[in-house]
Amino acid sequence: MKELEDVMSSAAGSDLDSLADALARYVRSGRPLSIADGSGVIGQLERRLGEVLNLPNPLTFASGTAGLHAAYLALDLPPGSEVVGAVNTFHASLSPAVHCGLNAVLVDVEPDTGNVSPAALEAAIGPRTRCVTVTHFLGHPAAMEEITAICRARDLRLIEDFSHAFLSTLEGQPVGAFGDVAVGSLQARKTLVAGEGGVLATPHAELYERAVLAGHYRGRALALADERLRAFGETGLGLKMRMHPLAAVVALVNAEQLVERVAARTALLQRLSRHLGDVPGVRPPVVRPGADMGGWFSYRPQIQLRELKPGVGADDYLRRLQEAGVPAHYPSIGPLHEEPLFTGTIPLQAAVSTWRPRVCGPLAGAAAFSKGRISVTVTGRDTAKTIDAYAQAFADVSRELAVRDAA
Ligand SMILES: Cc1ncc(COP(=O)(O)O)c(C=O)c1O
Repeated sequence: MKELEDVMSSAAGSDLDSLADALARYVRSGRPLSIADGSGVIGQLERRLGEVLNLPNPLTFASGTAGLHAAYLALDLPPGSEVVGAVNTFHASLSPAVHCGLNAVLVDVEPDTGNVSPAALEAAIGPRTRCVTVTHFLGHPAAMEEITAICRARDLRLIEDFSHAFLSTLEGQPVGAFGDVAVGSLQARKTLVAGEGGVLATPHAELYERAVLAGHYRGRALALADERLRAFGETGLGLKMRMHPLAAVVALVNAEQLVERVAARTALLQRLSRHLGDVPGVRPPVVRPGADMGGWFSYRPQIQLRELKPGVGADDYLRRLQEAGVPAHYPSIGPLHEEPLFTGTIPLQAAVSTWRPRVCGPLAGAAAFSKGRISVTVTGRDTAKTIDAYAQAFADVSRELAVRDAA
């Protein structure tokens, strides 16, 4: 750690000058641009991630998708095993399963949080089901008490995708600490940014070592404790998914003020939610008791169509908000059961006989969650003043378009 102090010493904030400075120092120092053994800036980032996220044995990857691919490989499930996940997660929570001979089962979500519904998940379990993948959607922790109970009772492995939920907790426990293995993306739109990158964490030594072998060779793969696995250290399992050291520098700079940044964002979004709680025609995002939203990946209120005047729709409400200066838009990710990867025949001969995703309807929860759902872009440049201005714009638009006593 010592040897990197001079590189990181300028990284006091996540502003562009600090970032440029840290990157320039790293490059000028002649430090490695490829690290196979988990030393240097990669090891430093992994230690930091362990501290900040409070998760065991962090292992970095080139992307969240690569980390999830390694997680599925590490679980070593029989070919044709089913992985159950939410119909409205980002595809990569489930899609790496294609390349592991597994199959995806898409199930409904809860109408208030958009997280996988424990009841739908349980109903979808069949004889080939071996794994559940939970995405803590938009930062809201999934219903882990019920889900872990189902996994225990049915002997299913549990992957947690916490890409949206850095620093989110449920009853004080960090997300990522409930399952067998957890993966988070450090891609540029996430709460902790490497640019491109991912992190996997697991309390199980065997899964950790298998995840190393899945995406890393030589270096740390030759140092594995398990002799059987170490024998493959020179080649790994044939794939290379390790993080670029410059991405690790970016992540370390951004990790510096992560906790403060998240606290500031949380305060602003709670302020907006308090305001919106009084506005007819719209509801702030639900935060269930016991849940802490961490970095609030995205702020998504819901237009209440039944509270709008006759003939007024969500499009009208959104357009008026935008005209009033609110940076609001419809969310960009649609449900997975509308994507060809999850409906059609895959154009990949190697997977065509194993990849036959099942969709378990009805998907009433997903429809209810997304109806009238909009996203408001709140960034590090926002202040209490801009938040209050957005809230005022919501109130003005509702005064015009909503039925006054609806709430
Ligand atoms: C929930 C979720 N899982 C996985 C990923 C994949 O991460 P990456 O883009 O780093 O591969 C993303 C990225 O957007 C995501 O939102």
